[in-house]
Amino acid sequence: MIKKFLDLGLQPLANSYIKEKDLNKRESKFRLEVMFNSKNYLVSINKKIATNKMFNSDYPYRSSQSNTMKNSFKKIAEEIKKRFKPEFIIEIGSNDGAFLFNFRRQKILGIEPCKNIAKITTKKKYKTIDEYWTKKLAKKITKKNKADLIYSANTLSHIKNLEETFGAINLALSKRGVLVMEGPSLLPCVKNNSYDQFYCEHVYVFSTISLINILKKYGLEIFDIKNLKTHGGSSRYFIKKISNIEIKKKKIVFQEIKKEKKYGLNRFKTFKNFAKRVNKSKKDLITILKKLKKNKKKVIGYGATAKSCTVLNFCKINSNQIDYFIDTTPDKVNKFLPGSKIFIKKYKKLQKNQVDVVFLGAWNFKDEIFKKEKLFRKKGGKFLTHVPKVRLI
Ligand code: TYD
Repeated sequence: MIKKFLDLGLQPLANSYIKEKDLNKRESKFRLEVMFNSKNYLVSINKKIATNKMFNSDYPYRSSQSNTMKNSFKKIAEEIKKRFKPEFIIEIGSNDGAFLFNFRRQKILGIEPCKNIAKITTKKKYKTIDEYWTKKLAKKITKKNKADLIYSANTLSHIKNLEETFGAINLALSKRGVLVMEGPSLLPCVKNNSYDQFYCEHVYVFSTISLINILKKYGLEIFDIKNLKTHGGSSRYFIKKISNIEIKKKKIVFQEIKKEKKYGLNRFKTFKNFAKRVNKSKKDLITILKKLKKNKKKVIGYGATAKSCTVLNFCKINSNQIDYFIDTTPDKVNKFLPGSKIFIKKYKKLQKNQVDVVFLGAWNFKDEIFKKEKLFRKKGGKFLTHVPKVRLI
């Protein structure tokens, strides 16, 4: 049975940053509700938006905007080379090449449906197909040669049709092939009250126990897991075909299942409690912003993330509370955040004499950002975050 546990209110499309000339146009909005499936433990958003409305030639997100991610991709690329020695790799959701560029061109194929972004890697002579990942495409590209490694980071949970996602992977993968997939993980999301992991693109936030149930249907299983710090707590799953009995399951798989069940990721009640904490987080954030405003503090936002879209619209925050955001992404700069319509300025190092408090939209890159803005903090500048609790740092 699928039951709702969280209502995040009316939300626009998270990555639809608004140009000035379109400010008065009506934005399309949808009710963002989060559901739990008690049969397979899958957590998903209720409303699934048409893919081409989200992933098209205007897509602004760039993986290479953070050094944390660039380094993480470099590290896993080295590990993959050593551990699996693949001859033919497919990356699903290759974005601007942060992973792709770590391999020789002949060995790797990128799949990136956002044409504006696929162009970036194509220009660098990395073969990139600007189509959605489907069974049809998988068949076409692996007709002669199946992939011995498929990699996908922060992408598979964006595709609502599980049959297409994992059915296509099963088709494209060789008998002994390995799928390495990673993305934000449900346990840290629930533990840290990071409800902003839910937005239109994040159709699912996977847990190990839910993923096991899904993969089984497509003849796949997890044999190893690595928990990562990226994106506020991610899991990297190493997956093989069930029919391949040469690779043994690592102990960590059983440990993760035990850990998730102990926390209650298989129980609806856990998610109802999470929802209560989320509503408290909303109240606390509104209260603190009100107080700052009353004390005439200048508050801005750092990192105009898709996650911020959820927070701002759920808490009904606009430019009355947060003056503007700063961001390094060229396609976001000089636009407005969807829904809240807060302006996004080009990133400039924070100056204490210009700003008092900075809302961490990109809280998942807190360490990288704090390092960059050491001076601001040293001079008494404060950051405001809602993860894991609303507080000033
Ligand atoms: P991210 O947290 O990856 O994403 P999402 O949109 O999926 O919620 O996005 C990070 C954003 O923060 C991205 O727009 C780039 C920006 N950013 C900066 O402006 N400066 C920084 O130092 C870092 C690390 C990120």
